[in-house]
Amino acid sequence: MGRGGVTASALQETAQRLVGQGRGLLAMDESNGTCNKRFAALGIPQTEAARRDWRELILTTPGLGEGISGAILYDETIRQTAADGTPFVRVLEAAGIIPGIKVDRGAKALAGRPGETITEGLDGLRDRLRGYYDLGARFAKWRAVISPAEDQASRGCIEANAHALARYAALCQEAGLVPVVEPEVLMTGAHTLERCRAVTEETLHGVFRQLWTQGVMLEGMILKPNMVLPGLDCPIQDAVDVVAFATVQCLVRAVPAAVAGVAFLSGGQTPALASARLNAMNAVSRAPWPLVFSFARALQQPALDIWQGNASRVGAAQEALAHRVGCNRAALRGDYSLAMERA
Ligand code: 13P
Repeated sequence: MGRGGVTASALQETAQRLVGQGRGLLAMDESNGTCNKRFAALGIPQTEAARRDWRELILTTPGLGEGISGAILYDETIRQTAADGTPFVRVLEAAGIIPGIKVDRGAKALAGRPGETITEGLDGLRDRLRGYYDLGARFAKWRAVISPAEDQASRGCIEANAHALARYAALCQEAGLVPVVEPEVLMTGAHTLERCRAVTEETLHGVFRQLWTQGVMLEGMILKPNMVLPGLDCPIQDAVDVVAFATVQCLVRAVPAAVAGVAFLSGGQTPALASARLNAMNAVSRAPWPLVFSFARALQQPALDIWQGNASRVGAAQEALAHRVGCNRAALRGDYSLAMERA
C-alpha cells in the first residue's frame, strides 16, 4: 500500500518502535507562548536563545534514549541546532530517539459554544507534513481539547474535534508520519472521576468513528489520551488503583485492539502521581496495547525548576529529567514505587 512512497509496514514499524520497546515519548513541543509562560513563572528570559538552551539541555541528557523512544518537537525546535552546530534532529537520532513534530495550530474558540474549542491547522497541512518529513520527523501530534464541565463537552465540540483529528491522521499516514492522536479531556475543574470517564468514553467513541470513516490505519497510529481522573478541584480524589481501573476500563470499551499503542498525557498531575497511576495500570492491565507515557510537564517540570536558566545547573537539571524518565520507564513494567522518589 503506497502512502506518499512510504509503505504501511514502515508506518507500523515506526509505531512499534515508539511504543513497543519498553520506552515512552517525551513531549517537548510547547508552543513559544506556552514555553514562555513556564519560563516567566521561574524568571527565565523569554527568548529564542533561552528556549534553545532548554531544549538542548533536554536532548543532551545522558542516557535519554534508554527510556525515551520518541521526542515531540515544536516548529522552532525542529529547525534548531545544538551549541556545537549539530541539528537537534541528528542529536535525537544519535541517541536512538525518533524525532516527532506538533502540527496543530492550537485550540481556538468554537463558534456558538462559549468555553469550548476547536483545534485548527488543517489548511496547508499536506505541504507542512512533507516539509517535516524532509527535516527528519517520522511521527506527528495533534491535540484536541474537551472540557468536561457539566455545560460543555457538547456533541458539536466532540464531533468537530474528532473530525479534525481524523483528517489530520489520514494526512499524516499519507505523508509517511505516524499520527499521535490526542483528544484531551481536561483535568481543570471540580468534576468527578465519573464525569471524566463518561466524557472520555464518548470522546473516544467519536474519535474512532471518524478515524474509521477517514480510512486511518489503526496499526500505524498511537492514541494519546488523558487518564480518567477527578478534576483538580474535586473534593473526592480517588485512589491510584481506582484511577488505573477506570482508565483501562474506559479504554478497552472504546479503543480498537488494532491501535499500535496508548501513550498518556500527564495533564497537570504531579510527576509522582502520573508515574504511580501509569504503574498501577501496567501492574494489572490485560489491555491489548502497550500503555506508555507521552508526558510533557510530568517529565520536564522538576528539571525546569532546577535549571531556571542557569548554566551552572545544567547537570543537576539533566539528572532530575533522567530520574523522571527512569521512574516512568519502571512504571511501564509495573516496577515503580514511591521509594524511587527522592526526599
Ligand atoms: P502534559 O503531559 O504536560 O499534559 O503535555 C502533554 C502534551 O503533549 C500536551 O499536548
